[in-house]
Amino acid sequence: MDSSVGFCPLIDADLPRLVEWFNRPHVYEWWGADAASDGLGGPGVKAATLTQVEAQYGARRTVDHDVMHYLIVLDERPIGMMQWYPTDVDPAYADAIDERGAVAIDYLIAETDLVGRGLGPIAIRRFVDDVVIPGSGRCRVVASPSIHNARSLRALEKAGFRFSRDAEVGEPTPERVMVFDAAQ
Ligand SMILES: CC(C)(COP(=O)(O)OP(=O)(O)OC[C@H]1O[C@@H](n2cnc3c(N)ncnc32)[C@H](O)[C@@H]1OP(=O)(O)O)[C@@H](O)C(=O)NCCC(=O)NCCS
Repeated sequence: MDSSVGFCPLIDADLPRLVEWFNRPHVYEWWGADAASDGLGGPGVKAATLTQVEAQYGARRTVDHDVMHYLIVLDERPIGMMQWYPTDVDPAYADAIDERGAVAIDYLIAETDLVGRGLGPIAIRRFVDDVVIPGSGRCRVVASPSIHNARSLRALEKAGFRFSRDAEVGEPTPERVMVFDAAQ
């Protein structure tokens, strides 16, 4: 399964798919409006809309210009999303996690039949090695899931990340900062 995991830059034609993904319960539990200050998605009136997704992820987006978005593709099937950005674009966040000069990643596997099958750690590590480090020119990559997202934290460990610290970043729950150092 793993040998065919790849990444394609997100384009506007992908945005309706993103809307649907953000409104899936296993995604909005960790990415949704109740989970993060910039989160989209949820049940009922909290459901993500195409307008919201265009504003945050579209080519003509009005926020987050420094965030690079990619689809995760498995055997030509889009199955999820990855993103990376230099932590310095959000100095308050970089200071809160004590990680100036690093690159941060976020990720989701949207297809429920593919969650919990070991694909996340493979995709994370491949994204770091093939996209993030070459694209950013930086060797230190961080991810900071909620301290309660045990599956995500374990996936990061399996991808070669290690615990750094827990941090209050102004989100509903503290985040656990996990780091990957290519230089080590
Ligand atoms: C997080 C995510 C990328 C992980 O990818 P995945 O392919 O599902 O991960 P895996 O199948 O390798 O499972 C990861 C590990 O978590 C463990 N795990 C699963 N649920 C768990 C739980 N509730 N508590 C503790 N460990 C758990 C699994 O047993 C596995 O560890 P193991 O292989 O040592 O047994 C994926 O589940 C996902 O996209 N989830 C929804 C969105 C999300 O949470 N994104 C991250 C936001 S920070």
